[in-house]
Amino acid sequence: MLGVVLRGVLGATQLCAPRYRSRRAQATLSAAMPGTAGSKKVAVVTGANKGIGWDVARILAEQGHTTVVAARNEELGREATAKLQKATGSQGVLFHQLDITDPVSVEAFAKWAAQELGEVNILVNNAGLAFKGNVFGAAEAQQTLDINLFGTRRATEALLPLVPNGGSVVNVCSMAGKLSIIKDKALRSRFENAKHADDVTALANEFVDAIKADKLAGSGWPSSMYGVSKLCEATYTRLLAEELSTLNIAVNACCPGYCATDMSSWKGYKTSAQGADTPAWLALEAPATGKFWSERKEQPF
Ligand SMILES: NC(=O)c1ccc[n+]([C@@H]2O[C@H](COP(=O)([O-])OP(=O)(O)OC[C@H]3O[C@@H](n4cnc5c(N)ncnc54)[C@H](OP(=O)(O)O)[C@@H]3O)[C@@H](O)[C@H]2O)c1
Repeated sequence: MLGVVLRGVLGATQLCAPRYRSRRAQATLSAAMPGTAGSKKVAVVTGANKGIGWDVARILAEQGHTTVVAARNEELGREATAKLQKATGSQGVLFHQLDITDPVSVEAFAKWAAQELGEVNILVNNAGLAFKGNVFGAAEAQQTLDINLFGTRRATEALLPLVPNGGSVVNVCSMAGKLSIIKDKALRSRFENAKHADDVTALANEFVDAIKADKLAGSGWPSSMYGVSKLCEATYTRLLAEELSTLNIAVNACCPGYCATDMSSWKGYKTSAQGADTPAWLALEAPATGKFWSERKEQPF
């Protein structure tokens, strides 16, 4: 499946990158996950210009890992990078523009990463969107899914050829996107039994179509655009982990907890630094693959 997915996103040239080809037949996930060996890694954190992403990048940079602040807004990204360099005293903090909804931006980022970084040991897909207040509609649901699901998938698939043996992919999801938000048994089982990332795409599209057709009530879907997008992202994470199960690459989902950031209108009970703990821990020491984590503890999806 991954081959098909990668071909779709990257084209045949990158699919056949030697680094990706050379990773065949590797051992199953071992205790020796990134960071545990004490070696310096290369990390990319999306949406790292502020909030939880900035603090994940700070933790990684503080431990001496080369850390890329990936942000869609160049000015904000450069400011955040300068702040991070000052806070950590690290020269290994880099900036590169990345809008995960823009295929051109993602391709340019992946090309730069291949040329300048060589490999990406840690990818933290943190960039995300939640509309505030009572905003609800098909266009808004599409935009939420475009960032939280499709953007995360696009960035992941573009950078996966650079993730070597021992790498870690962390998708910052949410407790608001657990399977339990789907009360309808038939719909829930479609999430549970999804086999391919495209099954998740189909489910996401159905959600938007139900809103468009004004048929959400009685369709089995909850009315949370953010919750559905994060459930889709977590399901995608689980499927990707299964797909990569023969490689020594950890792929995990996590919830940072309710954090006071721009997204939460500064109402959370945790700081962004506290929220960054679990994603940064997974980036460096993931004890397993294909799991959902909160407060460094495994949770059901
Ligand atoms: N805060 C919470 O309580 C909470 C709880 C559970 C999960 N989460 C998750 O944690 C992650 C970080 O959230 P946060 O609270 O730190 O939110 P935040 O302060 O609003 O930060 C979100 C980040 O994502 C970036 N972003 C949005 N769309 C993007 C795109 N298309 N391409 C690249 N970057 C993009 C934003 O960039 P701009 O600055 O340019 O907008 C910003 O850097 C999200 O995935 C969120 O869903 C947060």
